Amino acid sequence: MDYFNYRDGQLFCEDINLNELATQVGTPAYVYSQKTFEHHYDAIASAFAPLDPIICYAMKSCDNLNIVKLLAARGAGADTVSGGEVYRAKLAGVNMKHVVFAGVGKTDAEIRLALEAGIGYFNIESEAEFENIASIAKQMGVQANAALRVNPDVDPETAHEKTTTGKKESKFGVDIERAKRFFEHYGRDENLRLCGIHLHIGSPVYIVEPYVKSIQKALTLIEELKTTGLTVDTLDIGGGFGADYETGRTPDFAAYAAQIVPLLQPFKNAGGTIILEPGRCVSANSGILLTRVSYIKMGGTKKFVIVDSGMHHLIRPTLYDAWQFIWPTKVAPMHVPAKRAMEMDNPSLEVCDVVGPICESGDYLAKGRALPPVARGDLLAVFTAGAYGSVMASHYNTMTRPIEILVNGNEHRIIRRRETYDDLIALELEAEPASV
Ligand SMILES: Cc1ncc(COP(=O)(O)O)c(C=O)c1O
Repeated sequence: MDYFNYRDGQLFCEDINLNELATQVGTPAYVYSQKTFEHHYDAIASAFAPLDPIICYAMKSCDNLNIVKLLAARGAGADTVSGGEVYRAKLAGVNMKHVVFAGVGKTDAEIRLALEAGIGYFNIESEAEFENIASIAKQMGVQANAALRVNPDVDPETAHEKTTTGKKESKFGVDIERAKRFFEHYGRDENLRLCGIHLHIGSPVYIVEPYVKSIQKALTLIEELKTTGLTVDTLDIGGGFGADYETGRTPDFAAYAAQIVPLLQPFKNAGGTIILEPGRCVSANSGILLTRVSYIKMGGTKKFVIVDSGMHHLIRPTLYDAWQFIWPTKVAPMHVPAKRAMEMDNPSLEVCDVVGPICESGDYLAKGRALPPVARGDLLAVFTAGAYGSVMASHYNTMTRPIEILVNGNEHRIIRRRETYDDLIALELEAEPASV
């Protein structure tokens, strides 16, 4: 569900006509809908309300300060994975007690920054990391909370192996047997209070069963630890809930909650804290990428639609073989899409590859895609691009990144200005002659 809809053949974001907006702000542009962000955040908060969870928005999915701010204003905490994200969360006004810090390679400087900021939990990935954080906390004379990331060895059935994390062979976390030894060894540390279990099985997970299985395993582990005098009072179930890349693709939050809430209710009632780390399900449908057609080119019988964006702005198709719905922003009545689907039932479409300007054959947004006829100068929308879009953009080929716009009703705001070539070279000091 989102607030990107066609009115009289023209695509609108909320009440803003995107053809007019693109003329004003230029392309490529990421355009976000504030109402869609709010809708998804509120929907997850309400579905899981019986657990009164801390909802740590996964900033990695879309970390623009203005977006984190608007979610923080609705009560969101933050799931962070770097010192930079902790810094952003603080600037955005997130309650630092509702910040979790994950990631397998936290540096000493990042750990200090997070301890100084007073974050809620470190999500711990290994014994070596636990010892390091505990020792830094001791040196600084502070205390912090930690949750151990546990691999429940459950198959999340994600679309791609690069987005599967909860299996035994994953680089993340430790398996359940090792988790028991971990708690026995470190569970009584005074500076780093090991009081939580962290799960994140992958993304996107379109079925509820893997969550159920992994939570059941975590609850069993918690019970076993209790018998040895070790208390786990926090369970972080991670993120990974799906988004509608195709219309109706993902279960709604109520469907996930219907099975997850009853499982966790006894833990909550016994005084436990539940943490969720949703990213994509909040941000993906909240953003689109607007790109203009630069050229049409035939290669044999194949038609290429060459646009002013590509893998450097949205790498998901190249990196994950991800499918994103793409459609012109101005269409004849017969081409107004009734739904976003892999197979569009319309005989007048033309099959083409939508490719970018980067010097890589992997630079494409879609391959073999049926689209209404398009010409140079037409504007295309890449839908469901709010998550893992702008955040993964690069300057490859010395290309600037897209401008970012936040729409609210009939108003829009530039939330990341368009870069200049001077921005791109600003950090590259002129080479000093080598001194001998
Ligand atoms: C530990 C952790 N939590 C949460 C997320 C967010 O996942 P999603 O955006 O699919 O909700 C990720 C994504 O990689 C993650 O690694």
